[in-house]
Amino acid sequence: MALTAVKGFNDILPDEAARWRHIEQTARRVFEQYGFGEIRVPVMEKTELFCRSIGDATDIVEKEMYTFVDKGENSVTLRPEGTAGVMRAFIEHKLYAQDPVARLYYMGPMFRYERPQKGRYRQFHQIGAELTGVTDPLADAQVLTMLTLFFREIGLQEPTLQINSLGCPDCRPAYRAALRVYLEERLGLLCEDCKRRYDTNPLRALDCKVPGCAEATSAAPSVLEHLCTGCDEHFGLVRHYLELSGTDYRINSRMVRGLDYYTRTTFEMVTGLLGSQSAVAAGGRYDGLISQLGGPALPGIGFAMGVERVALLLGSQDFSTTPDLFIATMGQGERELAFTLMDGLLKGGFRVEMDYEGKSLKSQMRRADKLKANYSVVIGGNEVAAGSASFKRMADGSTTGVPLTVSAIQTFLSGALR
Ligand code: HAM
Repeated sequence: MALTAVKGFNDILPDEAARWRHIEQTARRVFEQYGFGEIRVPVMEKTELFCRSIGDATDIVEKEMYTFVDKGENSVTLRPEGTAGVMRAFIEHKLYAQDPVARLYYMGPMFRYERPQKGRYRQFHQIGAELTGVTDPLADAQVLTMLTLFFREIGLQEPTLQINSLGCPDCRPAYRAALRVYLEERLGLLCEDCKRRYDTNPLRALDCKVPGCAEATSAAPSVLEHLCTGCDEHFGLVRHYLELSGTDYRINSRMVRGLDYYTRTTFEMVTGLLGSQSAVAAGGRYDGLISQLGGPALPGIGFAMGVERVALLLGSQDFSTTPDLFIATMGQGERELAFTLMDGLLKGGFRVEMDYEGKSLKSQMRRADKLKANYSVVIGGNEVAAGSASFKRMADGSTTGVPLTVSAIQTFLSGALR
């Protein structure tokens, strides 16, 4: 029996890969415009890194990590997300010594042992960005306007931005205590996971999708009413700057992130078009993470988008490249000229195709159509004798006579394709 891929691990076939390249190129262009530079870190890290950053009591660390012992008896983990590894590299290479304000972006595969469904996979891909060293809410607003611009540039109306503040180590304990008091009387309504998390992570009940939990938490105290003065002012300014920049957003005080490192601003780009996998991108501030990992006391903020989810939102839009020219030949005698022209044009940067197998003219033209070539030309004995041929624009059938030399065709195509 033929072998198949591992469950939850997908092949990205050429048409889909063209959509992915469009997403990646747009992200690179927008992020670099905002001063972000690319960083590439390994897909595997010491397990301890994720326990210390994401948090031992999170779903990711508790049940979703691909962790194993390597041949040297070290516990290693395929990265479930990008922030921890990027911050590990930021600290390890002392990037902060050159400039505490680092702007880094990354893209690549992440791994979580989740139950696969549409928009949720075990190997998935993120494009993320991290900004360190700035406490000012201007940084939050800039990261959010950059993310919003990315979605505009990629041509998506969806998703919409939701923001929240989770407070800081000064004010969150009091909120957690208030929430626990509220939940204590409703423990019977909560799902098994939320019951279990009541002690370690009661906030998770707020965004649990199980109906009983939604009902139980419908009148729960809001985190925003428990922010300390510093966090409250910070959140107010983030909103102010978003408004100044004309960025649409909605406050969602029930948004709780599934990673422990967040402080203050958190956000998600949410869509209604992908069923329960509604977050297309997500992130927030992590002001304690860098020092927690042994680095200097520098704040950070960032996000990551799920490439598969962005690609699903783009739908069946075609981003694949099509040939500029298809060269058809009448007989064996013209194939040498056709090959020389094709070779010269390819070296000149044009996308050119011809028939490989000496097929009938009709079947060659069918192939030109199938490949969606912009222009086609048929070269036969007459064309060779005349030294020129008529180039047909496939969209409307209009023709132009062009000499059969590489340079003349180059000049023609450059003008015609502009
Ligand atoms: P996250 O919310 O865990 O955050 O993931 C970010 C995005 O990755 C999600 O919104 C979703 O689009 C995508 N994603 C997550 N899991 C899957 C999956 N199993 N299949 C497909 N897509 C998925 C983080 O990872 C943080 N590191 C984001 C961040 C950066 N926070 C600060 N800086």
